[in-house]
Amino acid sequence: MNRVLAHTGATYPIVQAPMGWIARSQLASAVSNAGGVGIIETSSGETEACLQEIRRMKDLTDKPFGVNLPLLFLRDARMIDMVCESDVRFVSTSAGSPGKLLGPLKAAGKIVYHVVPTLSAALKAAEAGVDGLICEGGEGGGFKNPDDVSTLVLLQAVREKVDLPLIAAGGICDGRGMAAAFALGAEGIQMGTRFVSAAESPVHANYKRAILDSADTGTVMLNRSGTPCVRALKTETSKAIYKAGVMDRSTLGSVKDLYFGGDMECSIALAGQTAGLIHEVLPVAEIIQRTVEGFHAIRLKQAERSRAGAF
Ligand SMILES: Cc1cc2nc3c(=O)[nH]c(=O)nc-3n(C[C@H](O)[C@H](O)[C@H](O)COP(=O)(O)O)c2cc1C
Repeated sequence: MNRVLAHTGATYPIVQAPMGWIARSQLASAVSNAGGVGIIETSSGETEACLQEIRRMKDLTDKPFGVNLPLLFLRDARMIDMVCESDVRFVSTSAGSPGKLLGPLKAAGKIVYHVVPTLSAALKAAEAGVDGLICEGGEGGGFKNPDDVSTLVLLQAVREKVDLPLIAAGGICDGRGMAAAFALGAEGIQMGTRFVSAAESPVHANYKRAILDSADTGTVMLNRSGTPCVRALKTETSKAIYKAGVMDRSTLGSVKDLYFGGDMECSIALAGQTAGLIHEVLPVAEIIQRTVEGFHAIRLKQAERSRAGAF
């Protein structure tokens, strides 16, 4: 039995990434209804709004969904209490060490997967007692470890040392990426950039268009020596930040005007390198269906070739 499916209760081991303000009920319910795992974000720090979104999920889907708790941004203890009291079973923790949250979450019967960018973080999280790991490589969009390891290497490094179920994140947007991740030991995938550009994603059309127009070289890592270090689309604004070498924290203050107002230069547009592989806005159900079909087609073809002793 695939352990990610057992833990999440979903039909497919495909998780929609937590993304501040974007990963709310409109997108997450579409993912859960299509058989994946929709995730509600809390990194926006908007406690009431996030709790409302968790409640709204109950009206929009009868399928399982999860919640993300990013340690770096958790300023309101109510968020943790409310998640513990809710009947949401799958919780991903990120941006910090899961140790502190693990006690209350496990006592409340939650399944906890922690996001890790390196092998050492994976070993610490495994030692702390998490149920699974989300191995997120530097190709992915959003907040990043400045000492970035690619998803390709990270999965192998973690699989070699840890027996927990692994969800691969960063650089995956279709069945090819999913098959590659499974070949390296993953039992599930998490996609961010692919779902930002989905039809049900609440972001402005300009943001989706910028992802579609992006090349494989169309993103940049910013603020490697500061916090947060992020991967974002190349725009005039992000190129200037890259050149300066540092990013002012206020840059992210106007991110909602970019996400929802469509002003692509007023902040930075978080996205991963898969932006170069995404060519159309598709409904969530189609993204998931195509990913599952592509995954199985590749695995079947490879199994046939291997059975025949071919490469
Ligand atoms: C627009 C955007 C916002 C993100 N915000 C968050 C966040 O709030 N919390 C978090 O843990 N990860 C965040 N991430 C990282 C994603 O959760 C995810 O792991 C990553 O996008 C996977 O890589 P991909 O973009 O190649 O699919 C964000 C990513 C994007 C693209």
